[in-house]
Parts: sequence; C-alpha cells; structure tokens
Amino acid sequence: SILIVDFGSQVTQLIARRVREAGVYSEIAPFTQAQAAFERLQPKGIILSGSPAGVPDEDSPRAPPMLFEAGVPILGICYGQQVMTHQLGGEVRPGHETGEGGEFGRAFLTVTKPCALFDGLWREGERHQVWMSHGDKVTQFADGFEIVAVSDGAPFAVIADEARRFYGTQFHPEVVHTPDGGKLLANFARHVCGLAGDWTMAEFRATKIAEIREQVGEGKVICGLSGGVDSAVAAVLIHEAIGEQLTCVFVDHGLLRAGEAEQVVGLFRGHYNIPLVHVDAEERFMSGLAGETDPERKRKFIGKTFIDVFEEEARRIGGADFLAQGTLYPDVIESVSFTGGPSVTIKSHHNVGGLPERMDMALVEPLRELFKDEVRDLGRELGLPDVFVGRHPFPGPGLAIRIPGAVDKARADILRKADAIYLEEIRNAGLYDAIWQAFAVLLPVRTVGVMGDHRTYDYVCALRAVTSTDGMTADVYPFDASFLTRTATRIVNEVQGINRVVYDYTSKPPGTIEWE
Ligand code: XMP
Repeated sequence: SILIVDFGSQVTQLIARRVREAGVYSEIAPFTQAQAAFERLQPKGIILSGSPAGVPDEDSPRAPPMLFEAGVPILGICYGQQVMTHQLGGEVRPGHETGEGGEFGRAFLTVTKPCALFDGLWREGERHQVWMSHGDKVTQFADGFEIVAVSDGAPFAVIADEARRFYGTQFHPEVVHTPDGGKLLANFARHVCGLAGDWTMAEFRATKIAEIREQVGEGKVICGLSGGVDSAVAAVLIHEAIGEQLTCVFVDHGLLRAGEAEQVVGLFRGHYNIPLVHVDAEERFMSGLAGETDPERKRKFIGKTFIDVFEEEARRIGGADFLAQGTLYPDVIESVSFTGGPSVTIKSHHNVGGLPERMDMALVEPLRELFKDEVRDLGRELGLPDVFVGRHPFPGPGLAIRIPGAVDKARADILRKADAIYLEEIRNAGLYDAIWQAFAVLLPVRTVGVMGDHRTYDYVCALRAVTSTDGMTADVYPFDASFLTRTATRIVNEVQGINRVVYDYTSKPPGTIEWE
C-alpha cells in the first residue's frame, strides 16, 4: 500500500483517487497520526501532500522524522516537497523574500535529467504542462538531491534523490490540469515502489466493512435514504457490515421521478431484505411549498422538512447511536474552492448540511473519500442493478427545483410524465450513459397552441441534457434534430397540460445545470 500523509491540502483526496486508479491501495493519514499509520500499514511508499500552510512559518506542520529513515520511497508534492527539503537540511523561502511571486495555475516544465519517476513517460528535453499553486519555493535542496525538471517560476520543479528514492514535485500531479499527473503517480506507486497494481473495488468493500464494524461495535445506526444512488450504496454497504443494527428511513417527499420510490422500496425490502421505514410525506411537503416561488426558500423548506421528518422517525424507532450518510468527496469540498478560499453560495445544496449538527450523533460516512463514478463501481460490486447504479444524479430537493415558481402536486405529476417520456426516448436511442444528466423542466408559462380543431392554453416544457465529469462545469448535449422532434411530439401528444417543448441550449457556466 501507499501511505498519503495529509497536510491539509484541498486536493489530498485526489492523490488517493489517482493511486486507486493505478490499482494500488492507499490510506490517508493526517500528519499528526502518520507515524501510527505507518507502523500499522507498513506501506511500500509514502506521498506527502500539499498544504495551505507555508514551510517558512515555524508553526507549520512537519512529517514524522522516522518516515525519512524507513527506507521507503517518498514523493513530496508541493508543500510535501518543501517540507521534505526543510526537514532534510535544505532551505525553503517565502515568495516575497525571494522577490518573485509564486506560480498559480498552468505552467510548463522542461525535463533536464532522466529519473525513475519519469521512466517510460517523460524524456530529457521535453516540455510538459503541469499545474502549480505555490507561493514559497525551495531555494537550496537537501544533500543527495538533484534537479530533474525546471519551470520558469520554479528552478526546483522536480527534484530527485535516486539513492534514497525520494522525489519532490513543486506542481500538483493529482489534478486533471496536469495531464500526465495520473501516470506519474502510477509510475511512483508501481515502478518506484514496486506495487502490483491489482487492487480492486472488492478490496475497498472488504476494508470498509471491517472499518464500519470497528467504528459501530454493537451500536445502532440509522440511515436516511433520499432515493438516490449515494445513500443507497452507503446503506447496502453498512447493512453488509452490521446487518440488523442498521435501520433505513426513506423520506419520500413526493418530488421524485416516476417509479423511483417504488424502485428504492423494492430494492431494499425485496432484494436485500434491509429494514426500511418508508415515510410518505408528500402531503406535508406539498402543503408547505404551496405558493412559495422563491428558489432559495423552496430549497430551505425542503431541506428543513426533510430533517424534521427524519428526526421524528428516528425518535419513533427509539433513536440510534450513529447517523449514516452517503456523503461523497465532492460534497465535502463543494463549498471550498481549489485555492482554499470559501466560495460563494450559488445554491444551498440540502443534502449535507444540517442533519448531523441537529441530531448530535456520530457519523458513519463510508463513501467520504469516493467520487461519483467510484460509488457506482462500488454499487455494482455490492450487486445493485446497473439501471439503478447508473442513474443520472438527482438533486435532493427533487422536482421542486425543476418547476420554477410555485410547486403543487398537479404540476409535479405533469412534469413526471414528461420526464419519463424524455428519459425513455434517451434510453431507446442508447444515449443514456453518454449524458451526465437529462431531465425535463416545467415552466410556469402558458402558451397558445392548436390541437385538432381546438385552441389549447397549456404549459411549456423545457428539456435539458448536459455532459460533465463532475457537475461543476457542463456542456449541452447535442441531440439530433430528429431525436428532439420525436420526443417533443410524444410529450405534447401524451402529456395533458403541456402543449409546447423547447430545448435548453445553455452550458454551465453561465447557466447552472438545474433551473433553480
Ligand atoms: P447546478 O444546478 O448547481 O447543479 O449546476 C450541479 C449538480 O448538483 C446537483 N444539485 C443538487 N444535488 N442537492 C443535491 O443533492 C441539491 O440541493 C442540489 N442542487 C443541484 C445538480 O442536479 C447537478 O448534478
């Protein structure tokens, strides 16, 4: 395995992800617990992460010195490179002292020497794009190191001590903006550390099950299901670990897609035999939403009511010691931008905030280090059906944010029908998996139409389909005209209440994926 020592960078989890992609098991330990983690894991390699701190600052974190004596290869990334340099006797100075600014964003480096990290990948003299984000820099490296790549702003872009197999990169190989970064990390794990690269999701499952058992002991766990993939995968995994100590509560707000509630209930009760409380709270959500047109107030109401209902049910079943959530890594970093500053709230996502604080329970979050596509792999590994696991992401507030303006049951029913037809056409055309998210939106606008000899005066339905890798940015999916014509015709013919269909041609940014 590889031990990743975390100094608090926003992107430490991405290192773990890249190492997993190379088929190598890794664990992240905060720098304060890195020695214990080393002794337990006996890793074949160590990666030192980046950090918002600066090495010249005396209070900044250090790696346990024993790691440098362990005879194991080490890769230091950004702060990791600097802290290694400092601890081994080199010098790191703040950017403002060297009179040069830092480097932030895209940069190019030139390979000046061969190095085991580059084997089979980068050759002397080549230039490669990398992603830098640093203010301080190494000004004097430690004994035994030499420079193997330079960039304009960082003469020590990559340093290496081949004898000890210590490497340091000033850039971040773990982010996608370093196109060869994943391969470099794979090279470190497999070529430098000699790991086989045959680790799989099956092992992740086994490791997590052991961890959950250890954390929970004899305790009772309650898990809120939203109808989505993440909470379902978390629940199935936890059930596999602790069986009947888990109770699931499915708060059905009546704002799910067609057939979704039935699918979740069928899966849990029928297929897995997992204890499930299905709370049909449609009435309560609809009456609370009545007349509310402000998007943020709609979101807040749904978030709060979800928690209220969940709490009531938790009390009814006699409480629990732990609260399980399907929190993913992007949920954890969502509100924090890459450079470390808090980002502006564009929309208040409801699925992470609120519940843990109010319930004052310890959390079980087995998916916290995974990304969406990895959760899908894990779901398949746990035997969840492909159609369920492969479902497009669906927002916590559900159809309420796909009905701009006031929401009521009649509108939700109309939207559900149109959405089901749209998704059916997409599946029939074999396009479902090529699209990140596709859905219908019911506009609060009525227009005039003619059907047969009659004048109609009904709602407009907008169709949305985007491609994306993480939902942060998105492109419009370019359907054929014939696909759109066929779908629009079906929706107008089959859904009473809609007489006009339009296609949303806005990318993100400037639009968001959802309409509210
Ligand atoms: P936007 O509309 O912000 O959406 O471009 C980005 C992604 O997030 C989903 N989304 C949500 N997911 N709770 C969720 O669980 C929410 O409140 C929420 N709002 C948006 C959206 O579907 C897209 O995948």
